[in-house]
Amino acid sequence: MKKAVILFMTMILLAGLLAGCGTSEEDKTGEKTDDNKVLVMATSADYPPFEYIETGKSDDIIGFDVDLAKAIAAKLGYEVQVKDMDFGGLVQSLKSGQADFVLAGMTPTEKRKKNVDFSDIYYTAQHMIISKKDSGIETLEDLEGKTVGVQLGSIQEGKAEEINEKVAIKVENRNRIPELIQEMKAGRFDAAIIEDTVAKGYFENEKDLKGFTISDDPEEAGSAIAFPKNSELTEQFNKELQAMKENGELQELVVKWFGGEE
Ligand code: ARG
Repeated sequence: MKKAVILFMTMILLAGLLAGCGTSEEDKTGEKTDDNKVLVMATSADYPPFEYIETGKSDDIIGFDVDLAKAIAAKLGYEVQVKDMDFGGLVQSLKSGQADFVLAGMTPTEKRKKNVDFSDIYYTAQHMIISKKDSGIETLEDLEGKTVGVQLGSIQEGKAEEINEKVAIKVENRNRIPELIQEMKAGRFDAAIIEDTVAKGYFENEKDLKGFTISDDPEEAGSAIAFPKNSELTEQFNKELQAMKENGELQELVVKWFGGEE
């Protein structure tokens, strides 16, 4: 009786070990079974509520984009692995095959379209000039002679250059959005250009900051999903995105992360 139990347990143990071997071998060769397909999503997790880490709570990257990616991927039978990097490196991560797609509140510009493909726009936004409440900056003209911070590689960088053609400003860039906020608080930047949705989030915690929007085209700073050129995923993702727009699932995510302003 005792022997039988031991034998039985040994068999279970062995089976477990063998199964374990199997999976680790698969991982090594990079082979993926059908029920465990993983897509790598690259992002720049400095952009609440799109993608960020809630410091003090966990190391997980959360946000609207992460939820959207997981929802679409799940419908297509994939799991998502999120990879954090600086915004300026995202397009390259697709070109070099480090990631399968990028969700980072990225705007589908003509320039980027030369290197990557985009889905349709899933969320629209506008540029906002933010500064300290006592900065005296109320209009674009007030920026004359001021130091303005932007994220490296973002379309806000281009916007700053555009402004600079009309009003002379000094443009400075940083890799991460929180750095822009810090530089402003420290008095090294007079203002920064950030998209309105993200800026609004900062206003909640940074009571001495204010801002005003400057673009009139709602799609100017809109967000889309980026893929390597000619990826099969573009079409597949876009179809699911369309479906989510129609069945209200996208709106549910908007309400969850942006408070349903749209
Ligand atoms: N929409 C802007 C762009 O495409 C800014 C996006 C910044 N995203 C981020 N995760 N930091 O350039």
